[in-house]
Amino acid sequence: MPHLAARMSRAKPSAIMLIAEKAKQLKAAGKDIISFSIGVPNFLPGKHVYAAAREALERDSGQYGSNRGPDALLDAFLRHLEEGGLSGYGRKNVATGIGAKHMLYNLGEALLDAGDVIVFPVPYWTTYLDLAEILDARARLLPCPSEQNYKLTPTQLDAALPGAKVFLFNNPSNPTGMVYTKHEIAALADVLVGHPDVWIICDDIYNRMVFDGVGYHNFVNARPELRDRVIHVDSISKTYGMPGWRVGFIAGPESVANAMVTLNSNHITNVPEVVNAAAIAALSGPQDVTIAKNAEFAARRDQVYDALTAIPGVVCPRPQGAFYAFPNISCAFGKSHGGKVINNDVDFCSLLLEAKGVACVPGSAFGDPLALRISYTCPAEQLAPGLQRFREFFDELT
Ligand SMILES: Cc1ncc(COP(=O)(O)O)c(C=O)c1O
Repeated sequence: MPHLAARMSRAKPSAIMLIAEKAKQLKAAGKDIISFSIGVPNFLPGKHVYAAAREALERDSGQYGSNRGPDALLDAFLRHLEEGGLSGYGRKNVATGIGAKHMLYNLGEALLDAGDVIVFPVPYWTTYLDLAEILDARARLLPCPSEQNYKLTPTQLDAALPGAKVFLFNNPSNPTGMVYTKHEIAALADVLVGHPDVWIICDDIYNRMVFDGVGYHNFVNARPELRDRVIHVDSISKTYGMPGWRVGFIAGPESVANAMVTLNSNHITNVPEVVNAAAIAALSGPQDVTIAKNAEFAARRDQVYDALTAIPGVVCPRPQGAFYAFPNISCAFGKSHGGKVINNDVDFCSLLLEAKGVACVPGSAFGDPLALRISYTCPAEQLAPGLQRFREFFDELT
């Protein structure tokens, strides 16, 4: 009997999907479930996006497309970057693919050899560790606990970079919702300048979802000399409510963009024509849905933050972006609910789901077992009851 490649023993199915699946099964069995578990936006793109897709369908060539992406999509992305404050890039600096996740895998393949070190802060988005493991790279993890607001410090970064090949940074953060201020980005950028052999991947896919006027800031604007080592990753998934359309982008040095094109030519060939048309319309059309949603998420953040911080013992650094909160719930460890002892975050989330029908993702899926992730994009009418049940669960601990 032949066996699978060794790398498959290192790859794990996403822990987030496993919880979402369990919640789905309970729901199908008739249980009243409120899901705070899956990180998808709760809206669809504007009508102009569907109109563009229909029109593209009418004139579909049925042919293979460009490995980099059609010029119109590259140009739409370049304008989008400029609107977000990143200028000075041209078509040769960008490439497209099947979502940000695919771009991150492409970048991993392009930049990391087996045994190379990739550095990233903890908590991290689950895929980062899996990506490192599949590629047989060595992940150097930098713990950023709730006591430091889940944020990386310049001192930590400076100590971690010697010998590293890639630094992977996510801002705003999934799972914590943290957003780095202009000053914090500048301080990290100063450190990065001192490590010229390290590539810097910025997973910025939540860059349009920032609250409180903090703004979105990046290393290139802080220290322009980093431009030839920084790669921005972006996607239409969260910004435009289009996760299933699967379009992602990178912008960075020409050599890296060309590497993405080479990998595309061997993996996917191209993003489909109809999808490209929808992505162009999303990027270039009215931005009112995105802007309105950002305001809605900021209001939800307040609701979630207020509810969580009112629970004695729960510590929740205030999220300022994306649509996640990441409370430290370790005060519950050692206590019991309904006679069952909670030893860790996984016990906590399982009991919460069974007892209260509220699905959250254990923090260990993101490298921090003292916390859990709440994604607050559920239907509006479920948010307050879900938070109420969360509170009741704590009140019932003995
Ligand atoms: C931080 C982060 N990066 C990348 C992705 C993947 O996005 P895409 O749907 O564009 O593949 C996600 C999706 O949840 C994410 O949270």
